[in-house]
Amino acid sequence: MCGIIGYIGKQPATPIIMDGLKRMEYRGYDSAGLAVIVNDQRIECRKKMGKLANLQAELAKYDLPGSVGIGHTRWATHGEPNDINAHPHHDCQEEIYLNHNGIIENYYEIKAALEQQGHTFYSATDTEVLAHLIEQHHKTLNFEEAFLAALNEVIGTYGVVAISNKEPEKILAARLGSPMILGIVGDGEYIVASDVAAIMQHTRQVIYLEDREVCVLTPQGYTIKDLQAKKIDHAVNEVDWDVSQAQKQGYPHFMLKEIMEQPRVVLDCLRGRVKIEEGLAHLRGLHEYSERLQQCNRMIIVGMGTALHAAMVGEYMIEEYAELPVEIESAAEFRYRKPILDDRTVVVAVSQSGETADTIAAVREAKLKGALVLGIVNVVGSTMAREVHAGAYTHAGPEIGVASTKAFTAQLTVLALITLFLGRQRDLSLVMGQRIAKELLEMPHKMQQILDQADTIAGLAKQYGAYHDFFFIGRKYNFPMALEGALKLKEISYIHAEGYGAGDMKHGPIALIDDQFPTVAIAPQDSVYQKTVSNIQEIKARQGKVIAIVTTGDTILPKVADTVIAIPKTLEMLTPILAAVPLQLLAYHIADQLKRDIDQPRNLAKSVTVE
Ligand code: M6R
Repeated sequence: MCGIIGYIGKQPATPIIMDGLKRMEYRGYDSAGLAVIVNDQRIECRKKMGKLANLQAELAKYDLPGSVGIGHTRWATHGEPNDINAHPHHDCQEEIYLNHNGIIENYYEIKAALEQQGHTFYSATDTEVLAHLIEQHHKTLNFEEAFLAALNEVIGTYGVVAISNKEPEKILAARLGSPMILGIVGDGEYIVASDVAAIMQHTRQVIYLEDREVCVLTPQGYTIKDLQAKKIDHAVNEVDWDVSQAQKQGYPHFMLKEIMEQPRVVLDCLRGRVKIEEGLAHLRGLHEYSERLQQCNRMIIVGMGTALHAAMVGEYMIEEYAELPVEIESAAEFRYRKPILDDRTVVVAVSQSGETADTIAAVREAKLKGALVLGIVNVVGSTMAREVHAGAYTHAGPEIGVASTKAFTAQLTVLALITLFLGRQRDLSLVMGQRIAKELLEMPHKMQQILDQADTIAGLAKQYGAYHDFFFIGRKYNFPMALEGALKLKEISYIHAEGYGAGDMKHGPIALIDDQFPTVAIAPQDSVYQKTVSNIQEIKARQGKVIAIVTTGDTILPKVADTVIAIPKTLEMLTPILAAVPLQLLAYHIADQLKRDIDQPRNLAKSVTVE
C-alpha cells in the first residue's frame, strides 16, 4: 500500500526515484509523483493519476536536474485518485514538499486551525495538512525543528519523507506505524524508502527505523533522532534477499513465477528444521520460550486474508496433534473486542509482509495483555518480525504478486512445524512425529507433480473462464482451502466466488446452484471424503458443474464430477499444502484468459498498512 522513496547523493535523483517506484509498484497504487530540488534550488514536482507510465510520459517532457528528491506511489484513502490528490504535497509557498503513507486522524482539527491562520488547501488529502503544519512551524523554527514539531502534533500513522528548498541539501524522514528503511549507499549517498525492494539494487546495508524515529540525511552523513531531537544509535543490518528473486525471470507474471517456485520455497522453509529420527521440529526462535510454550493452555492465531486462511488450517493441525485449544480470529476484530488473555495464552500472528496494520495492532494488544506473542512472518526486519517475542520466518523470498501464493504454502509449512514442535512437547508419539516429519519432506516433490499438470489446468480455465459465479467447497482441513480458493479467484479475476464448508451448502447456498454456477470441490481421500462426495452429488443433482480436486487414484469422483484435478496422497493435515497449488493455478489461468492485471489487481494493495 503506497510506496515512498527519497534519494540524496551525487547522481541524478529522477531515474533512481523512478526505478524505486517501479520496484514498489507491486504494492498497489492509483497515482504516482515525484519532487526534485532542481539545480537553482526550486522544487519541481510532477504527479499523475494511474500507472507509472503516465508519470514517465510527463517526465519525458522536462529535464529535472538535481540530486535530491522524493517519490511516491499512492493508494487513495482520503480523496479520490486524481492528479491533485497524488503525492508529493506542498505548503502555501511551494517550498516544502512531502510524501506520506498512513492516515493523519486529527487532520480536520489541524486543517481548521491552519485555515484560521491563513493557509489555503488545494487537495482532499490528509497529507497536505502535514505540509502546511510544517510550514507554519517553519516560520519560527528551522526545517528539522519544524518537521519534529509537526509530527509531535499529529495523531495517526505516518511514514513520511520531506524536502525544503530553504535547506536544499537535506531529506527528513520519519515513521510511526508505517515502515521506513534507510539504505546506506555510500559516503553522503542515501536512499530512504518504505520498502526494501526500492533499496536492494543500490545497497544491502540498511537501518530499519523504529516508530517515532526521524532520520536526517545530508551529504555529510545521516543522523537518527527521536521526536524530542535526541540522537539514537542504530545497528546497520544486511539485507539477505537477492535482487534476482524480485524479478520475473522469464515468467509473464510474478504470480505465476511465485506459484512455480513453491517446491523450492517449501524446501527452504523446512531446511534444517526437521529431525526425522527424533520426529521433531527444530525451530530456533521458539526454543527460548520452550518452557512457556509447554505450559500454555490456549492459542489464538490471528492474521488477515490469506494469512487468516493459513491460521485456520493451523487451528486444525494444532488441535489434532498438539491437543492445545486453538482459536483463530481476524486481526481486525481481535483488537476491538477486548480479548481475554493471560500469560498462559500464546498469540500467533501470521503475515507475509509483517506490516499489515490490523495484525500489528493485534500483536501490540496481545503483548500489552501479557500473552506470549509469536510471529510467522516472511519479510525479515519488518515491524511485526521485530515486535513479536519470538517466531519463525517463512523464508519464501520476496513475494511481489498481490495475490499471496508461495507465502501461503510457506505459512502452512511453518504451522505444520509448530504443530510438530508443540505436539512432541505434549502427547504426540515418536512414531507419529516421524511420520509428519517424513511426509513434510515429501511436500516439495509432491507439489512439483501438481505443477507438472499446469498445462491441463490452463486448459480447464478456458472451459470455465466465462462463468460469472463460483462456489468453492471443502471440509475440515480443506474448508479454509475453499475460502482461500475463492479469495484467489475473486481478487485477480474479479469473478464472484464464495467459499463454504461443503456441509454448509444445504443450509442456504445450494439455492443458487444451476448449470451456470460451477463449484470447485476440494475432496481428497481424507477422513471426511465420503461426506464431501455426498455434498458433490447434491450439487450434481441440481445440474451444477463440479471441478473436483481429488487424490491420485480416486476411482469414484472421476465418475461424479465434470472434471477432476489429481493431487498426490499425503497425510490429511498436509493436504492443504498440495490443494493450494491447483487452486492458485486455476485462478491464475482464468484471470490470464480474462486479461486481468494479475500482479496488481484493481483496488488491492500488497501490504495493507492502514486499518
Ligand atoms: O502481508 P499479510 O500476510 O499480513 O497480508 C494479509 C492480507 O492482506 C493478504 O493475505 C491478502 O489477503 C492477499 N491479497 C491475499 O492474496
